[in-house]
Amino acid sequence: MPFLRRIELDRTRLGDGEARVRDYPFDIPAIRRLDRLAFDADVTFFVGANGSGKSTLLEAIGVSCGFSIVGGRDLVIAKEKDDTSLADLLRLSWTPKVSGGFFFRAETFDTFADYIDELAKDPFVGTSAYAPYEGRSLHERSHGQGFLTFFRNRLGRKGLYLLDEPESALSPQNQLALMRILWEQASAGQAQFIVATHSPILMAYPNARILQFDEEGIAPVAYEDTEHYRLTKDFLNNRERYFRMLFSEDEEAD
Ligand SMILES: Nc1ncnc2c1ncn2[C@@H]1O[C@H](COP(=O)(O)OP(=O)(O)O)[C@@H](O)[C@H]1O
Ligand SMILES: [Mg+2]
Repeated sequence: MPFLRRIELDRTRLGDGEARVRDYPFDIPAIRRLDRLAFDADVTFFVGANGSGKSTLLEAIGVSCGFSIVGGRDLVIAKEKDDTSLADLLRLSWTPKVSGGFFFRAETFDTFADYIDELAKDPFVGTSAYAPYEGRSLHERSHGQGFLTFFRNRLGRKGLYLLDEPESALSPQNQLALMRILWEQASAGQAQFIVATHSPILMAYPNARILQFDEEGIAPVAYEDTEHYRLTKDFLNNRERYFRMLFSEDEEAD
């Protein structure tokens, strides 16, 4: 069962709402239209076009939870601390409240690996910095292997885990390995995951809730109705048709 059941945007604290909606993040339709969002599955996916607001919301949830951001020594928590930041306007409803968890941002995982390397150079920390990562630097593996090592070893605590595009360095086979890790943690009642993803493999996770971000807001969508599923399937079945379309001369040019 999920721990975080619902988030609500407290608009009463938005102040001069009209002015605010012109600025980030309220200029994003999915954020502007956000009222309340229920989490009713152990695994929730955020899907939608680039720029539709997935990372923005995921990060705000992470900041609201007080999580550290895996992806750099400067915790993003310090970034936006005015009273009306999105994170401050979110009300989170838990049953039960858990304090474990983190926000994982694939984009900046290298910075995180650098940080662990620097910790390991600190005489007071030493190689114990590598203890949670099978005893060696996360850089001494491929990017994808580093991701998997991280997930295998850092999901032990009961918690809410926010993952932003975790598939980005993973081969299809390792996306399945990640799916297995999510399943182990979720079915043991140890973890709730909210995952922003573009991976048609990952979002197939059984009984997951998929939330689509678009101009209309944020709404549940069936797996088979996602663009990721439909386009990938159609492309794999009809490659030549796509190539004819993609590589044709621009008709208007001649
Ligand atoms: N710190 C920021 N300041 C201003 N605009 C931002 C900032 N971060 C993201 N944006 C903009 O907000 C929109 C949504 O971004 P993001 O949440 O990262 O989308 P997604 O994760 O769905 O691709 C994008 O148009 C992006 O350019
Ligand atoms: Mg993003």
